[in-house]
Amino acid sequence: MPESKPAILVVGSINMDMVVRCPRLPAPGQTVQGSSFACSPGGKGANQGVAVARLGAACRFIGRVGQDAFGGQLVETLQAEGIDCSGIAVTSGFPTGVAIVMVDSTGENSIVIAGGANLQLTPDDIFSREELFEGAYFVLLQLELPLPTVRAALDMARRHGCKVILDPAPAPKCLPEALCKVDVICPNATEAESLTGQSVSEERGAKSVASDLIARGASTAVLTLGPRGCVVVTADEHVYTVPPYKVPVADTTAAGDAFAAALAVSLARGEKIHPAAKFANAAGALACTKFGAQPAMPTLAEVLQLMERQVI
Ligand code: RIB
Repeated sequence: MPESKPAILVVGSINMDMVVRCPRLPAPGQTVQGSSFACSPGGKGANQGVAVARLGAACRFIGRVGQDAFGGQLVETLQAEGIDCSGIAVTSGFPTGVAIVMVDSTGENSIVIAGGANLQLTPDDIFSREELFEGAYFVLLQLELPLPTVRAALDMARRHGCKVILDPAPAPKCLPEALCKVDVICPNATEAESLTGQSVSEERGAKSVASDLIARGASTAVLTLGPRGCVVVTADEHVYTVPPYKVPVADTTAAGDAFAAALAVSLARGEKIHPAAKFANAAGALACTKFGAQPAMPTLAEVLQLMERQVI
């Protein structure tokens, strides 16, 4: 069926999250008594795909799952959101990606991932799915896949005239120069610090880190600062500080995923970067109000309602 909404292609990870809630995150060597456990669909790529679909854009997905129960379940969940899953391959001999997620009583989290099948997604998978890039307005990338695969997706996006948003998470110590040359890069404070070696503890720091990312080749850098909103710096030297939406926080897991997806959807609809960053702030805030990753991704109606209720 032809897509009547802007199409966004997500090339990314699909994980089953094993989530334990606990009063505080354990220090190294410490054991903490948790309060509850649940399995819930996650993976930065898949979370972004779900958010794109719930925010009203057409989502296509390229990824890999293992030939196991988690894999089948996770693909079904994505299909139920209306996502085009024709680019998801089943990999024998490797398990579906999993994440061990701990969430404390303030909603803060610590995550360890075992990439499994996600790490088997190769540049050949990108070449063989070239048709999914055709007509996509944005390609949305994160870093839970092998870097050569992310690079191949970036190059393919360029060849097809697609714009690219890179959510550099989890952040490597050193991001290859070619991966910085994207239309929008959107790290959180921790990721930005590890990419640039600079502190973003105050606003001036955030602006300087964003400018550093622009100097490395990004056209726009958007730094998400959690409860402090976000800072946008563009290559033509516009700087915007976007205040946060105030919400009760249950779990911050995947707030960055909701943010990146919302930024893509809003820009694909033709918004300028400043209103798009406000829209993304609202989506990121809403993701913090519910437990889990994909279960917490907001709908378009929820985002518009929050923006109407709180004018920032
Ligand atoms: O961004 C949150 C996600 O990070 C979780 O869903 C987990 O799977 C890890 O990929």
